[in-house]
Amino acid sequence: MEVKDSILALKEGVLKKIEDVKTLDELNSLRVEILGKKGKLKEILKSLGKLPPEERKEIGKLANEIKEIVEKRLKEKEEAIKRSLLEKKLQGEKIDITLPPSWIDVGASHPVISTLVEISEIFIAMGFAVEEGPEVEYEEYNFDMLNIPKDHPARDMQDTFFLNNGMLLRTHTSPVQIRAMLKRKPPIAIIAPGRVYRKDADPTHSPMFHQIEGLLVDTDVTFRDLKGILKLFIEHVFGKDIPIRFRPSYFPFTEPSAEVDIGCTVCGGTGCRVCKGTGWLEILGCGMVDPNVFRAVNIDHEKYTGFAFGLGVERIAMLRYRISDIRILFENNMNFNLQFKGIR
Ligand code: PHE
Repeated sequence: MEVKDSILALKEGVLKKIEDVKTLDELNSLRVEILGKKGKLKEILKSLGKLPPEERKEIGKLANEIKEIVEKRLKEKEEAIKRSLLEKKLQGEKIDITLPPSWIDVGASHPVISTLVEISEIFIAMGFAVEEGPEVEYEEYNFDMLNIPKDHPARDMQDTFFLNNGMLLRTHTSPVQIRAMLKRKPPIAIIAPGRVYRKDADPTHSPMFHQIEGLLVDTDVTFRDLKGILKLFIEHVFGKDIPIRFRPSYFPFTEPSAEVDIGCTVCGGTGCRVCKGTGWLEILGCGMVDPNVFRAVNIDHEKYTGFAFGLGVERIAMLRYRISDIRILFENNMNFNLQFKGIR
């Protein structure tokens, strides 16, 4: 029974080898080694002819059984290796969809710009259209047509940057009133946000700052409309409880004219350094469009009336965020600017 012993030994050895196989390549070469044309099992089967019939039958049967077992084990091993390869692959490609995204720093809106946008949106919601004018402006639009003739002392009120081509850097957004009225006929309802320039620099004045102009022209526009609209706007920005006061004033392009004060946001009206002890802070100038301005743009001042207002955006941003020095708004210090991230 030599053959039987060797065949059984072969079986044990082969099954052990299959057990130890790690890769598909190893498995394939092992399959050839055992079951291939020149494989060990074939060799044994070939030598069967030399055996006596009784033994031949038994060994033949045994060899076939072993063949089946080996084939089955090879198949199982192949599947196990494939499964573990797949698992490894899936593990490597795993995506955790609950993981928060990495932080993308998108910066922040500058407090002056977000104030400007917010104020504009309030007036847009009331039906005002946004109008723009150039920062390099005709002297005529900036002064003359706004009822500020050449020898008028009001020209000195606004320290002007004159350019050598007879133009100037606009000192206020009021020339956009002129442009709007030259361009279209009443009813006109516009706001004009933008940069303006004056030779002025101290803790509360910057040589460049932002204004928003407002102009409403129609039949029967009254001072009461002006008050109502400005009150609505101020309450939107500073809250319903803010005290508001209209104080008589003078502008060449409006008659009557007023300045609007709000209760000091710093001391709450008791008097402090910011409001210079008065309890009030001026936030804008306004009035009814002067008939001379209507004459300059050929609008019938008998038929139409209008109001105009102009406000300083930095001023409002400073009161709102309690900033005491305007210059910090223009320093581009990121530590300062980023405080306003998400505030609107
Ligand atoms: N233009 C004026 C200024 O800059 C403000 C203003 C605008 C006043 C419109 C009345 C009407 O001070």
